[in-house]
Amino acid sequence: MTAVAIVPAAGLGERMGADKALLDLGGRTPIGRVVATCRTAGVDEILVVRRDGADALPASLGVQVVTVSGGGEMADSLRAAYLALPAEAESVLVFPVDHALVTADTVLALRTLCGREGCEIALPLFRERAGHPVWLTRQAFAEIDRPGAVLRDVVRADRSRVRVVETGNPWVHADLDRPEDLRAAVCALHGEPWSTVAQMFRHRSHRSYRRDALPRAQIERLVDAARHASTSSYIQAYAVVAVRDEAIKNDCARLCGGQRHIVEAPVFFAVCADLHKLAAACGRHGTEVQAQSLELFLQATVDAALLGQNLQLAAEAEGLGACMIGAARNHPIELAERLALPPHVFVVFGMTVGVPADDPVPRGRMPLAGVLHWDRYEPATDAVLDGADEVMRAWARRANAEQGGYNGRPVNEQKGWTERMAAAWGADSSYAKARATLRDELRRLGFALE
Ligand SMILES: Cc1cc2nc3c(=O)[nH]c(=O)nc-3n(C[C@H](O)[C@H](O)[C@H](O)COP(=O)(O)O)c2cc1C
Repeated sequence: MTAVAIVPAAGLGERMGADKALLDLGGRTPIGRVVATCRTAGVDEILVVRRDGADALPASLGVQVVTVSGGGEMADSLRAAYLALPAEAESVLVFPVDHALVTADTVLALRTLCGREGCEIALPLFRERAGHPVWLTRQAFAEIDRPGAVLRDVVRADRSRVRVVETGNPWVHADLDRPEDLRAAVCALHGEPWSTVAQMFRHRSHRSYRRDALPRAQIERLVDAARHASTSSYIQAYAVVAVRDEAIKNDCARLCGGQRHIVEAPVFFAVCADLHKLAAACGRHGTEVQAQSLELFLQATVDAALLGQNLQLAAEAEGLGACMIGAARNHPIELAERLALPPHVFVVFGMTVGVPADDPVPRGRMPLAGVLHWDRYEPATDAVLDGADEVMRAWARRANAEQGGYNGRPVNEQKGWTERMAAAWGADSSYAKARATLRDELRRLGFALE
């Protein structure tokens, strides 16, 4: 059966600000990816619909180009392609460039279905929602050649001839409309196949790294993704200093309690609460930022924390390991000076990121009942506290058995979470004493906390 792919790629790309067929999608163009996928799936010929005056496609693609005028409406593109369809074409694959990350297995599955046992239209289904590409018999596709007809109407005209292929590939729904869509697609090419939530459960802090440098493009990608966290009142009151310079990184390590993994990691991120840009915005409009406000301090700190958590998750999704570094608040003023932070910016916490060289035993968490309350808060029960103790002891037993302990030393298997927390944060807390000057230091950095 002769199969022809029609690739609508005639849009103006107004929201993208560029011709989407020719974007850089992980080192290849979307049109290049679609063409390669079509060939892998055994398509015989490929017609690409382009707008009059659009940039020429590389001859190496080996495709036939059909041109249309106007704004590149999908229906017009499909009708033009229908009129140019080779006589021998028995089936048609409609494969818009937006769906460049759909893989050949999905396309092959559509091809296998279409034309068999009453199936005239085969389309992919992700989570109960139909997407692209769509494979149709020539006869079904011919219905596009009616005034006002769009592909959706052809599909809906007679459900009995439509079959679906269930796929785990969400890109059957994707649109490459905005620059953010492109950046998300590039991220997907680097991400692990876990769902976001599965990735969350896989979290462990890593404290040893290989020396491999992280490419600048990867660092940009991770921080770019991370900053799409929600942000209080759209202030975007955060900043990240990505420290790769060895001398500066070593100084950061020294100022953060000499933690070895900061020296080892190829990058140390200083995740900052940042009211500097807000101050500049206020200055531009003849007023002064209320940086003394405790509320603004909290907003900026929460914003930074949300970005930081997103950053860790993004790094983990790309197969990296990370560890947050609260010790960045040990010497906030010296650290701010070393990183050339302006007034109204402080490092809330740091984060080491790199290719992990360790395989830490997961810590687990206290029973969910200590965290999730229904309608009203329930004070901590013995079951919760005992459960938290047991999770900690189980971690200690496993760390001792599998790794000879933690950080090169055996862990006390008797001490549970409550005893450790009481020692760390009770009356003799060395942590609390170490931060006794934090309020004054924050004031000096431009946060009066009033
Ligand atoms: C804000 C913050 C600061 C942290 N600071 C440090 C740190 O300075 N050094 C370190 O080794 N781990 C640090 N951690 C990691 C915690 O110790 C770790 O998340 C916790 O023990 C749970 O272990 P897990 O992340 O492996 O599940 C920090 C975590 C957070 C959220």
